[in-house]
Amino acid sequence: MLTTEQKSIIKSTAPILKERGTEITSRFYQQLFTSHPELLNLFNQTNQKKGRQQTALAGAVYAAAENIDQLEDILPVVKQIGHKHRSIGVRPEHYPIVGEHLLLAMKEVLGSDATDDVLEAWKEAYGVIASVFIEVEEEMYQDASIQQGGWEGFKPFRVTHKVTESNAITSFYLEPVDGNVLPSFSPGQYISVQLQIEGETYTHIRQYSLSDAPNQNYFRISVKKESDHDPEGIVSNHLHERVEVGDEIPVSAPAGDFVLSTKDETPLVLISGGVGLTPLLSMLKTVVHLQPERRVTFIHAARNSQLHALKGEVTDLVKQIETIQNYTIYSDPTEQDEQSVDTYTGHITLEWLQEILPHNQMEFYFCGPTGFMNAVYSALQGWNVPEDRMHYEFFGPAKSLETI
Ligand code: HEM
Repeated sequence: MLTTEQKSIIKSTAPILKERGTEITSRFYQQLFTSHPELLNLFNQTNQKKGRQQTALAGAVYAAAENIDQLEDILPVVKQIGHKHRSIGVRPEHYPIVGEHLLLAMKEVLGSDATDDVLEAWKEAYGVIASVFIEVEEEMYQDASIQQGGWEGFKPFRVTHKVTESNAITSFYLEPVDGNVLPSFSPGQYISVQLQIEGETYTHIRQYSLSDAPNQNYFRISVKKESDHDPEGIVSNHLHERVEVGDEIPVSAPAGDFVLSTKDETPLVLISGGVGLTPLLSMLKTVVHLQPERRVTFIHAARNSQLHALKGEVTDLVKQIETIQNYTIYSDPTEQDEQSVDTYTGHITLEWLQEILPHNQMEFYFCGPTGFMNAVYSALQGWNVPEDRMHYEFFGPAKSLETI
């Protein structure tokens, strides 16, 4: 239990730690991976190299510490992170290791400011925060394993189809090797795949959204191949170039809280940029099945038709169901695209949304790269769409749109 004095130490030092966050977390990861190299099997090393994950973990610890009196207020964030942790395989026994190294790094970077009282208070606070995470995640592990067809950790899946969807995106259909039915998932959720890549010492884990509607037989992921020269693409390149039908890949049970709500019939707007299409396509296919009367506007932004994945699948649905409106906007159209009547040229703006949508009394779901997310978010804010009607997910480490 934290004493009142320790709580005030935490609150007064959290801002300093935040300010020196990158320094502390760089040191933290260095030491963590030196003492526990096996943890490199869990962490995304590309995010590490790019510094993307460096502040996320420690930043969340400091943010939680500032709310130490009312940790229930941050439960939604804990759950969001918990989904990711559960999907990757973070376990209770990992928490003390992270805590020890975070404290060591704080001590080193803060020098004489890190008095015994300060360190003791942070040790205590980390323990309280870690126990909230462990509890939330324990429940998630249990849910994943007791659900019909569910399992804990990773289990082998076989690639049954590999389909090219555009110049950059390929779909993989994955069926469980044990032949069991699949657990149901909510459209918008993702799975983690774990790859052992030749020449690499550690495994690589990545999350991919499920791009098809829930069904009992297969998961489908649609993966964008990152540029050949970019180190970022180690996993996507491996999947595109080396993984073939018949190969086995370890997969974890579906996770994530960016999910479609089907509790009412409020008109839906699903907006995607590039490969952000994948969770939204799963949502579209689900709503067509479960709520065929619900009005849906499906908006997809891509560079041009060459990079427009799964276009045929969306067009087929639109042909069958009158309640779907489908819009495509290309930022860099080919000559042929320019002549097409059903596509727009440019970027998503407030004016354009107001032109195609009758009003803003709708539920908005959006997903895509950072620039796209900023554009959509500020357009919707400019249109006074309330926060609770905007649902979104970033690729890569979670960020808050209000803070970027
Ligand atoms: C991801 C916070 C403990 C391993 C994250 C993210 C946050 C976070 C904010 C980013 C979430 C996202 O991208 O959506 C925390 C906090 C912890 C904690 C506050 C302690 C209270 C741990 C522990 C481990 C761990 C004990 C395991 C050793 C990971 C991994 C990721 C992650 C592997 C995925 C990021 C990547 O691979 O780049 N965590 N975490 N975390 N965390 Fe934690």
